[in-house]
Amino acid sequence: MEELSTADPDTAVIATRALTKRYRGGQLAVDGLDLTVPAGSVFGFLGPNGSGKTTTIRMLMGLIEPTSGTARVLGQPMPRASRTVLPQVGALIEGPALYGFLSGRDNLLRYDAADPTADPRTRRTRVAAALDRVGLTAAGGKKAKAYSLGMKQRLGLAAALLQPRRLLVLDEPTNGLDPQGMREIRTLVRELASDGTTVFLSSHLLDEIEQVCTHVAVMAQGRLITQGPVADLAAGTRGRLVVTTPDTADAARVLKEQGVGDVVVAETAEGAEGRVTGEAPPPERELAELVGALVEAGIRVRGFGLERASLEDAFVALTGEGFDVAG
Ligand SMILES: Nc1ncnc2c1ncn2[C@@H]1O[C@H](COP(=O)(O)OP(=O)(O)O)[C@@H](O)[C@H]1O
Ligand SMILES: [Mg+2]
Repeated sequence: MEELSTADPDTAVIATRALTKRYRGGQLAVDGLDLTVPAGSVFGFLGPNGSGKTTTIRMLMGLIEPTSGTARVLGQPMPRASRTVLPQVGALIEGPALYGFLSGRDNLLRYDAADPTADPRTRRTRVAAALDRVGLTAAGGKKAKAYSLGMKQRLGLAAALLQPRRLLVLDEPTNGLDPQGMREIRTLVRELASDGTTVFLSSHLLDEIEQVCTHVAVMAQGRLITQGPVADLAAGTRGRLVVTTPDTADAARVLKEQGVGDVVVAETAEGAEGRVTGEAPPPERELAELVGALVEAGIRVRGFGLERASLEDAFVALTGEGFDVAG
């Protein structure tokens, strides 16, 4: 496994060592996981379906016992310290459990009443604040069964936000939501993070992680492939050289002659401007030299530059596979 930057496990909000879960049927769902989630991060736990995300989260929250290895949350061992740790953690795992026949507000009142540390005298205020936080004040009196999936998800988040939390753990919070619902959740996550709450969220959507997270861990088949700041991960992957020109075939030939690898021509209609891309040249190579060679060969260069690598490029570079997940 490649570690991008060393986050200190001693001050980490979540730290696991060789965390492993083998289910009774023999399925090795999580395999020797060393995860370090720095305080104040929005940490994306990324992986295709079945890669072990929910299993990991269940172990972190003390819902299931690891087969071996250890997990610390807020500096305390789990599941042993569940009683002291869990009140400081807001969690949304695989959709909230809601009573459909109760209103959104009454569902939250019920949640709050189930918390022995919650003062009943301030319950209504807390619930109103939580509804407001997720934008459900107007719909608070509606029965939960009439809520859209996005509203249900936000109500679940409201339940996780009844108390001030040091850590929020959200398992696929945008799963099944339409683009508008996804945007709302993303905005909310950013707001919460800017208040200093550490957010740990899982997703099988690369794009989503890239938009909202400061850090990422990539899982595949129960194993950690990499973790670190999102920016480092993308920076560690070389971007692509991009030439915009109507003379695509000639440009491709010259780039190859100049030693550029993996030259690809994006097909365009005859005479139209096209794109030729190739592997970014090593840093010591002067880009001006390449442009010079193109211009000298009579190629009409309309654009020339390096495209920053995306998280997707990094993922492909790491796994040798596209991040192509069904559902
Ligand atoms: N209760 C269970 N019993 C047996 N196998 C399970 C159980 N829950 C999950 N698995 C298996 O463990 C692997 C990881 O699942 P999961 O943690 O749910 O992944 P993810 O959340 O990334 O989709 C999958 O192969 C899944 O089929
Ligand atoms: Mg899952």
